[in-house]
Amino acid sequence: DEITLEVARYRPGVDTEPVLQSYQVPLREHWAILDGLTYVKDQLDGTLSFRWSCRMGICGSCGMTVNGEPQLTCATFLTDYAPGPIRVEPLRNFPVLRDLVVDIDDFMTKLPKVTPWLVRDVHSPVEEGEYLQTPEELDEYKQFSMCINCMLCYSACPVYSLEPDFLGPAAIALAQRYNLDSRDEGADERRAVLSSPEGIWACTFVGECSAVCPKGVDPAGAIQRYKLTAATQSIKDLLMPRSKR
Ligand code: FES
Repeated sequence: DEITLEVARYRPGVDTEPVLQSYQVPLREHWAILDGLTYVKDQLDGTLSFRWSCRMGICGSCGMTVNGEPQLTCATFLTDYAPGPIRVEPLRNFPVLRDLVVDIDDFMTKLPKVTPWLVRDVHSPVEEGEYLQTPEELDEYKQFSMCINCMLCYSACPVYSLEPDFLGPAAIALAQRYNLDSRDEGADERRAVLSSPEGIWACTFVGECSAVCPKGVDPAGAIQRYKLTAATQSIKDLLMPRSKR
């Protein structure tokens, strides 16, 4: 048996617009969409460009739009779409470099803005030994540490498609990964960028980011939770005399 892949082909600066090109690939039970694309590149058309690395849902590099939905193509199977055809396009909301490869520069410049590391107070004495956490303290942030930077959430986000300056779901979830860590003291440092117009308040809580996340990170939940934190902090700031802030 075979199944048809309709793959977006596009060379910016050369082609006027993307076109779908059809390829017949074997419909094998354990083949992911990525295996189908690899078959195309190896056997049918070596000019096809796409990204991948781990093939096991860890590296986050094989995100594409499959029949209109953002998916990790190494974790999405041909048989799920039988009898086909299967339309494979680049992730939406990102400039296309070639075929299925998108430019991720915007995403990469946003991530460091949220200070994505543990911040320690340099004035506190360094305690000896490890900074142990209880299982409950780990549970507070563990979910937000599962992000693999696959950008499916940005591709699904209607706010990001309209407001490219929006910090975006994964970056905010990453900020919460550290804000909610009992060892971290950097919440104040992250506050300005998270509470800016391009931060949490730009989110309209459509929730598509959480729906498409392959790791169950729930960026929409992270954003809603930080909205509550930020609103509570603003009220405290208003009530507290300026001298004691
Ligand atoms: Fe690494 Fe798909 S190839 S997540």
